[in-house]
Amino acid sequence: MNIKHLLLLIWCLILLLSLKGNKLDDGTAYEFPLLTLFPPMPASDNMPSKTGAELGRYLFYDTLLSSNYQFSCATCHRQEVAFSDAPNRFSLGITGEPLPRNTMPLFNLAWYDALFWDGKAATIEQQVLHPVRAEEEMNLSWKEATARVRSSRFYREKFGEAFGPAPIDSSLIAKAIAQFLRTLVSQDSKYDRVLRREAIFTEQEYEGFLLVNDQSMGNCLQCHTTDSNALGTTGEFSNNGLQAVYAPEQYSDKGLGSITGLKQDLGKFKIPSLRNVALTAPYMHDGRFSTLEAVVDFYSEGLHNSYNVDSKLSSARTGGLCLEPEQKLQILAFLHTLTDSTFISKSSFSNPHLIAR
Ligand code: HEC
Ligand code: HEC
Repeated sequence: MNIKHLLLLIWCLILLLSLKGNKLDDGTAYEFPLLTLFPPMPASDNMPSKTGAELGRYLFYDTLLSSNYQFSCATCHRQEVAFSDAPNRFSLGITGEPLPRNTMPLFNLAWYDALFWDGKAATIEQQVLHPVRAEEEMNLSWKEATARVRSSRFYREKFGEAFGPAPIDSSLIAKAIAQFLRTLVSQDSKYDRVLRREAIFTEQEYEGFLLVNDQSMGNCLQCHTTDSNALGTTGEFSNNGLQAVYAPEQYSDKGLGSITGLKQDLGKFKIPSLRNVALTAPYMHDGRFSTLEAVVDFYSEGLHNSYNVDSKLSSARTGGLCLEPEQKLQILAFLHTLTDSTFISKSSFSNPHLIAR
């Protein structure tokens, strides 16, 4: 190598280091916890910045986004129950009427390819646009929502910090809330700590873990990943033999089928994560089971060989997995290890309007 090459190499190194330094040191990106047991977080053009996520947190908790100033996202999505609306089977919307489906918990949303029980939103940004304008949820036009946010000096400043001089509009409001939603990462349950070798299962929990992951037994992992993919769901859509429906036209809630119009999607719903499941009763898209015991009994003895039932649930043909009473207790004990108490008490996810500003 001659001196010219050496100089060129040194120059390249300096350039690389300075670029890297810029990216790391400007201090604006939101810092996620170490996510060793998760698949890589899918990229988005709206990754959270510190200021954007904070702004989104204010908006998530702000009743200004509903027509009567009484509903915020957090009215139905409460942190202490993993941002679900437990123990309500259906949340009451702004009209006082119950909504048609059970309110979903909110965490680890960044990994999902589709949102809602029927997958009608492809991105978190798109999803956020729904509840504000939905007549039965918050019933506010985005025009009015934007006007309200623009007229607040507090929000004008916060938007300036997060997004620069761009005018505040529905898409920017959705982006801010979506940034906050992306930061809602649940990764500190007992199960996580066991996988990280910071805790150990009791014998009963361990037996439950084995059953859930045993393909000749519970086989839950095919749909609700709880092995080295710690999300607790594949995020896919499936028909788990919940409904005694044996012909396509009998589905009253068609689930994914209502969005795609495809016969093979009838009665398919988003596979919920098993994380925090002990906190989020009742269960299923229609909240039909009020306890986890009832869910385990369903998989054991109550499966229907429904039209479109997922072939991964082969025991649907014989009514269920036929678990022993002891095995049921073991599965339940394991499900309880998925509760993330750090997540539900983390102050940076709580209502910021309660703090003096
Ligand atoms: C009146 C109650 C209510 C309010 C208010 C509400 N939601 Fe929801 N949310 C629901 C229900 C019910 C569902 C499931 C709806 C469905 O799938 O049909 C849901 C689903 C979601 C999902 C999908 C989660 C997933 O895993 O697919 C997200 C994200 C979400 N809401 C965020 C928000 C945000 C952000 C706001 C405020 C702008 C909000 N919600 C306001 C009741 C509510
Ligand atoms: C073939 C895929 C599949 C398999 C296998 C499967 N599930 Fe499910 N599970 C689903 C789907 C889909 C739903 C939601 C169905 C609905 O709401 O209509 C669900 C819902 C649940 C819920 C309710 C969660 C909530 O937030 O409402 C629990 C708990 C659950 N399953 C546990 C289990 C256990 C335990 C096993 C193993 C014994 C198991 N599942 C096996 C697909 C599956």
